[in-house]
Amino acid sequence: MAMRHFLDLSDAGGDAIAAMLSDAIDRKSARKGWPKATPDADAPLAGRVLAMVFEKNSTRTRVSFDIAIRQLGGVPLILDAGTSQLGRGESIADTARVLSRMADAIMVRTDDHAKVEEMARHAGVPVINGLTDRSHPCQIVADLLTIVEQGKALPGLQIGWLGDCNNVMNSLVEAAGLMKFAIRIGTPAGYVPDAAYVETARARGGTVTVTHDAAQAAADADIIVTDTWISMGQAHAQDKMVELAPYQVNAALMAKARRNARFLHCLPAHIGEEVTADVFEGPQSVVFDEAENRIHAQKSILLWCFGLLG
Ligand code: CP
Ligand code: NVA
Repeated sequence: MAMRHFLDLSDAGGDAIAAMLSDAIDRKSARKGWPKATPDADAPLAGRVLAMVFEKNSTRTRVSFDIAIRQLGGVPLILDAGTSQLGRGESIADTARVLSRMADAIMVRTDDHAKVEEMARHAGVPVINGLTDRSHPCQIVADLLTIVEQGKALPGLQIGWLGDCNNVMNSLVEAAGLMKFAIRIGTPAGYVPDAAYVETARARGGTVTVTHDAAQAAADADIIVTDTWISMGQAHAQDKMVELAPYQVNAALMAKARRNARFLHCLPAHIGEEVTADVFEGPQSVVFDEAENRIHAQKSILLWCFGLLG
């Protein structure tokens, strides 16, 4: 089988992402109502083992990859840094080489992006980025799937991102270039999106704008997205909470977006901080579809990594 790493959306590119979305929609609809761990009829990854390494907490990424590999016919294996030898200082290079002898793919959630790159350099099997401090590409495949399910075409779409400039935002900016949509980032002065992702997205034909005016970021948006103000690994800072307060997604802000706009949040959410309860629980919110779609997205990412898609 082929071996492709998925460290960022660019590893796949726009055409492969489109193929992933289409495959995810087909597989999701084909198994409607089935027990969650019953394999898909074709069980394309039968007998394959996915090893997952977590150096940070996770609910969705952990459970969705676990169920995804089972639905593809394979077997999940979870390693926590704290209970594996990684936590006692075994090198990433050795871990990559050992896991490659025992598993058919490796998913890594960690802090420094260089660690997943190092894992990929030494692994003999596909390595998937399950979130680093720099990016969260798997989340964005699920987000794009959710947007398409809502009947919205990606080319020409207007997204309003509100709040912190973080890993999820970087991957969304990357997607803007690959799928040709526009993202307007509403963030405080002094908060800057990662320049490399912005420049690449613009060079590919995506539109990326940064404003310090939250209402402007939300204006006429088809999709409003936010994320926690304090990402994993960051210290809780009162200053940051105060600076980000004007970028809270609340009813007044949603009213600036298009009437049929949808609200996305990768979760976990902090109600009363980045989003209010009425928006989170309201009719425009599709956050639980988005969470479920992590399963369907991971399946197409896995298939792409094995060369079975795109
Ligand atoms: N959205 C997301 O990645 O959730 P977890 O941190 O629970 O995996
Ligand atoms: N930006 C968040 C995403 C969590 C899924 C974090 O890194 O904690």
